[in-house]
This record gives sequence, structure tokens and C-alpha cells, in this order.
Amino acid sequence: MVAGNWKMNGNIELAKQMMDTLNGANLTDVDVLVCPPFPFISAFNSLKGAIGGQNLSEFDSGAHTGEVSGSMLKSVGCDFVLVGHSERRTDNGESDKLVAEKVSVALKHGLTPVLCVGEPESVRDSGEFFNHIQAQIEAVINVIGIDDFDNIVVAYEPVWAIGTGKTASPLQAQEVHAFIREYLRKLNADIANGLRILYGGSVKAANANELFSQPDVDGGLIGGASLDPQEFLNICLAAKG
Ligand code: PGA
Repeated sequence: MVAGNWKMNGNIELAKQMMDTLNGANLTDVDVLVCPPFPFISAFNSLKGAIGGQNLSEFDSGAHTGEVSGSMLKSVGCDFVLVGHSERRTDNGESDKLVAEKVSVALKHGLTPVLCVGEPESVRDSGEFFNHIQAQIEAVINVIGIDDFDNIVVAYEPVWAIGTGKTASPLQAQEVHAFIREYLRKLNADIANGLRILYGGSVKAANANELFSQPDVDGGLIGGASLDPQEFLNICLAAKG
């Protein structure tokens, strides 16, 4: 699976170009997901692929100005939603507990959450990154249990690699992906084996092949490179092979 996260970038023209590029390609063997900003979601209505939100509210409706609910996303054609992206954790103070609640709300509305986890640079340097990532996942298990993980995609995004051009090496990515799968395997082996774990952090067409060929890397969550239709298409094609 390859997911594009436009973050707060793009415009309606880019949405049209992206759709033309992706729809004109043979991507039958790869699951493609585009997560544009909310105003452009409906521009992707005829995408041959899935559409996702970048965030959802923990509330269902009501007096929460500026928020978007899971049912709203579903009603405009989203099947996925990013939850707990590091930029939301940092910019909006989203805690592990809030992220877990949002995962639960997404599932309730029939959306597949793409649960983003990953350590900041200081935690990587301290060597505590496995504990950090385990705590982020454990917080979600504490709220929804393990069984619903068959409706979740996990994205490992080391914060020090996001938008920095500093990609985790294929072995660094594989090591963490294997750790996540192994941790979940102790709770439910079938779910762990079937779980899709995406890598995100400065993925480009030039490094996608090597990252995606790691045994526990099941695709990518692409930020900057998802804003260039041809580059994003090439990353999708790398996931196909
Ligand atoms: P990047 O972003 O590909 O620009 O590093 C990844 C992400 O934040 O999802």
C-alpha cells in the first residue's frame, strides 16, 4: 500500500493532475490512498484508489468549530483516515490517549485508521525508541483491544526522517517494523501477520524500492513526494514490484 499525505499543501489543480496521472496508470496490484486537505477530498471522487482524511475529531458532532467528524469523512467518500501523525502530536498536542480515542472513533464510523507512530530524534539517540513506539501502540490496544487491529494500518514514521531528507535506512525501518509485528504477534499472531505496516519519512522514487523490499515493510506513507504526481506514481509502481 502507498499512501500520500499532502499535509497542508496543494490546490484543486494539483488534485486534478494527480487524479489524471494515477487513473491513467496500471496500478491494479497496489493499494493507493491519497490523503489531501479536507477541501480537496471531493475532487478525488473518481480516483481509482482510496481517499482518506488527515485527521478526525474525537467527537461525533456539535459545537466543535473547525473540526471534522468521522461520519463527515465517510459521507464524502473517505475509507481511511490518518490518526496520530507526528505533526498533530506536536502542533496540536495530541496525546497517546487522544490518538487511541480517535482510532476507536474512526473504526466506529467505518474508516480504516492509519495509526502513525514514531520516535523523535532525541529518543532515537537515547536508544529508547522501541519502548517509545511500544507505548504509542499499547495506548491504542488499551482502548480498542487487539482484535480491531485487523482493520488498522500502522505507519512507522521516525520524526527525524519526516520532511528532512534523512531517510531511515532500510535496515533501521525493517528493525522497527519487525519489532511492531513481533510485539503484536504475542497478542494475536494472525492479526500481526496480516497487519500492513507502512514506512514514512523522506520516501522518494529513488529509495522506495529498497525500503519496500524489506520483509516487514508493506508500503509507504509519503509526504513531500506525494505532491509531485509523476514521483508519487513512481513510488506506487515501486510498491507493485
Ligand atoms: P515526508 O513526510 O515524506 O515529507 O518525509 C512523511 C509524512 O509525514 O507522512
